[in-house]
Amino acid sequence: VTETEMTKALRDWYDRYARTMPWRTGPAEKLAGTRPDPYSVWLSEVMLQQTTVAAVKKYHDRFVALWPSVADLAAAEDSEVMAEWAGLGYYARARNLLKCARAVVADHGGRFPDTHDALIALPGIGPYTAAAIAAIAFDRAETVVDGNVERVMSRLFDVATPLPAAKPELTAHAARLTPRDRPGDHAQAVMDLGATICTPRNPACGICPLRDPCLARQRGTQGERPVKAPK
Ligand code: ADE
Repeated sequence: VTETEMTKALRDWYDRYARTMPWRTGPAEKLAGTRPDPYSVWLSEVMLQQTTVAAVKKYHDRFVALWPSVADLAAAEDSEVMAEWAGLGYYARARNLLKCARAVVADHGGRFPDTHDALIALPGIGPYTAAAIAAIAFDRAETVVDGNVERVMSRLFDVATPLPAAKPELTAHAARLTPRDRPGDHAQAVMDLGATICTPRNPACGICPLRDPCLARQRGTQGERPVKAPK
């Protein structure tokens, strides 16, 4: 099984089983070539850094209803935004959110820049968020690596190196799998696979679209991947 075949199997699975999220485009929008709104993608990614998908949906919808564009958010009172952020915790993130919105307005005319380098220069946007926005909102072939992606790669390629030392190796595997075609959907497909099938405990290998090429599954090591360094 080649890497292209793996990517295709994963993409077919995502087209059928992708979780519905407010910041994702549905099948009809995809057919029409509609891209997700970068503002909506950015909000979701910042919120998802500390909270589950289920909890974020509510906050994301509320923010978009109150402030439909990044310019609206930039013009909001700090105290209002802080009040809406309550419950998500980690208030430094909310303050950076406002700083970032104001920088997008002041330095980019109210439109999110569409490259990793320009995105990472914005307040509160680190390597993960820059890659996620570039891939999901702008369909750039960026490699997006979070904990889900690390687990999927550690099993697919049966990586025995313990985390965190394994990170460069896992990132390299993820990068090799990233396609030129629809990299944003690919990034979200790996995350969904990790969240719903390739779960930390009791992964559902029987229904996994990558069960055949998965080296850990072939060797029966999936329960021991990823390896974590002893504390
Ligand atoms: N976790 C963080 N970003 C995500 C996304 N776009 N889809 C699924 N899970 C995520």
